[in-house]
Amino acid sequence: MSRIPQDFIDDLLNRLDIVEVVDKRVKLKKTGKNYSACCPFHEEKTPSFSVSPDKQFYYCFGCGASGNAIGFVMEFERQGFIDSVESLAKLAGVEVPREESRESKQQHFKQKNLYQVLEKAAAFYQSQLKQNPRREPAVRYLQGRGLSGHIAKQYGMGYAAPGWDNLLIKLGLNEEDIGLLVDSGLVIRRDEDNKLYDRFRHRIMFPIRDSRGRAIGFGGRVLDDSKPKYLNSPETDVFQKGRELYGLYEANQNNRNLEQLLVVEGYMDVIALAQYDINNAVATLGTACGEDHLRLAFRYVQQVVFCFDGDAAGRKAAKRALANSITSMQDGRQIKFLFLPEGQDPDTLVRQIGKERFLEQVKNATPLEDFLFDAAAEGIDIHTMEGRARFTKVVAPMLNKLPQGIYRELMFTNLAKRTGLSSAAIMALVNEQSPLENPREHAVQPEATPEEQPPPDYPSQPPENSSIEEEYGALFQGEPAPDKVEEFQRRTNVRLNPVIAATLLLLDSPQLLKTVPAELMLRTQATQEPDLLRLFNLIEYLQKKPQASFSTLLGFWGGAYGIESQQQLAKMLATHELTRNASLASFETERVLCQAFDKINKQFDDETRRRELDQLKSKGLGHLSDEEKNRFRELTKANKTGPD
Ligand code: UTP
Ligand code: MN
Repeated sequence: MSRIPQDFIDDLLNRLDIVEVVDKRVKLKKTGKNYSACCPFHEEKTPSFSVSPDKQFYYCFGCGASGNAIGFVMEFERQGFIDSVESLAKLAGVEVPREESRESKQQHFKQKNLYQVLEKAAAFYQSQLKQNPRREPAVRYLQGRGLSGHIAKQYGMGYAAPGWDNLLIKLGLNEEDIGLLVDSGLVIRRDEDNKLYDRFRHRIMFPIRDSRGRAIGFGGRVLDDSKPKYLNSPETDVFQKGRELYGLYEANQNNRNLEQLLVVEGYMDVIALAQYDINNAVATLGTACGEDHLRLAFRYVQQVVFCFDGDAAGRKAAKRALANSITSMQDGRQIKFLFLPEGQDPDTLVRQIGKERFLEQVKNATPLEDFLFDAAAEGIDIHTMEGRARFTKVVAPMLNKLPQGIYRELMFTNLAKRTGLSSAAIMALVNEQSPLENPREHAVQPEATPEEQPPPDYPSQPPENSSIEEEYGALFQGEPAPDKVEEFQRRTNVRLNPVIAATLLLLDSPQLLKTVPAELMLRTQATQEPDLLRLFNLIEYLQKKPQASFSTLLGFWGGAYGIESQQQLAKMLATHELTRNASLASFETERVLCQAFDKINKQFDDETRRRELDQLKSKGLGHLSDEEKNRFRELTKANKTGPD
């Protein structure tokens, strides 16, 4: 059988979301940053199985099972690697290359590099806002809309200067790069004559990021009243409008414990709200909020509030959102509808009434249950028997789409109360098509929701024999107030094994690789010490594959150093990740990492000195030459004043 190319596997892991893969088989529950459930690989009553969406891997505190999405399917389905890759590829809608032809190699190379070209473009547009000689109108426009530099930076806003080929010239250095620009939708190749030109010109640029923060497309706004007001990237291999929420990445970055998402219509609404310190808004990208959008949203929060214009169009859009929401209403979730005053959008409203009053309105938004009954009752006189019959015919089929659970029961009870009909009569009507539904977005029958599990209690359930956790874990509970950072540094300085600290920090933030001093690499490569060797191997891997995700790394690790070593790595990160609620600012991690490397270097010096000293001692002090005696004194002194 032909080997499945590694590039394909990396790409597959990039496309999949482990949360979705696991959730299909074991119902997951959001707990803080991660998801949890009772472990499918050993018997237990309280959940200690955890899935990290950031790092795309799972880890069980109880039995130590760990791995990436492929590993999970292999273990869960008890099937081999190839079969697992096959079934996951099917889920991701891609075909497993049987045999790596040159074309398909190029194809994968391209997909992987689409992310890179989009990232480069985002950086380019951003730099143009700072240094293009013609940036003045763009800067003025943003100021005119009340945006601070800070917010613009946070959302990676940029500027595509006037001109047909600014981006093309900057990034299209060879045929391959030009191909990528075209595939990413940033450059258009005209059919008639193959002429190339930039899609975005003289526009404010909004990078659209996926939930992992990778730029996957752009929106561009004109600076005046010309049309079209917004231009968006076309759908590509890495960008599907129906599955992305603009601002979701930033919302997660800005809220340690995101509980609620506000779904608004536009880029500017998201950003204006952020400017007013309301950091949980997301926008669908010029499309209605569909089931995929909601699935994505509910991966992160339990409550979604839609904001709509108060006019007729807004109400119509709200009904469409309602129809798409019903299948998402599992117990514990909440959806609300906020109708803004006519002619307002969140951007204009928050500027007019400010943060507090805006949030007040969000709080008082109409719950889905009220909106559903209100909307269904529109144009029906519910006081007549005939009206109540029509009302029931509209509502019952909708309620029937609710997932099994208490909420569903309550809604049916509510309907019975409102209409005076028996449950049996209502159930007879459930299969009729509701006119409120959007026939194109026909909802599928939801799966039954298994019983909700109580949230696992990680802090009170520390994993066994965990020196790392003891030293590290407690620091991350609660808010990362400045004194926590200090404490983190103090304690990492004093107590945490610097090799472990460096390994953890690099696993968590591979981009810090640049902090690794070159001479350390030379010194560590000959080491026999297992922790240090692992650090060395990690650094070497990251140097070769700086873009690799943790789950890709895990896969590689298992292959290269064995499953035990892989599990150790997963455990380190899981116990570290899960005990912390927040990331330190990156400059802090950088500083801590530098300190760790300093300490490792000092340990080396120490070790070398100690060995020399031992050698001298073994000769017997009486037999030393004067030179050796001097050296001996030097060494003992250095060891006393040396590192702590
Ligand atoms: P709006 O026209 O309501 O724009 O479109 P807005 O967000 O209020 O923008 P500002 O305040 O004038 O800057 C809402 C959303 O619809 C999509 C965009 O995603 C926009 O943010 N849209 C709108 C387009 O894709 N193309 C358009 O031409 C207009
Ligand atoms: Mn607007």
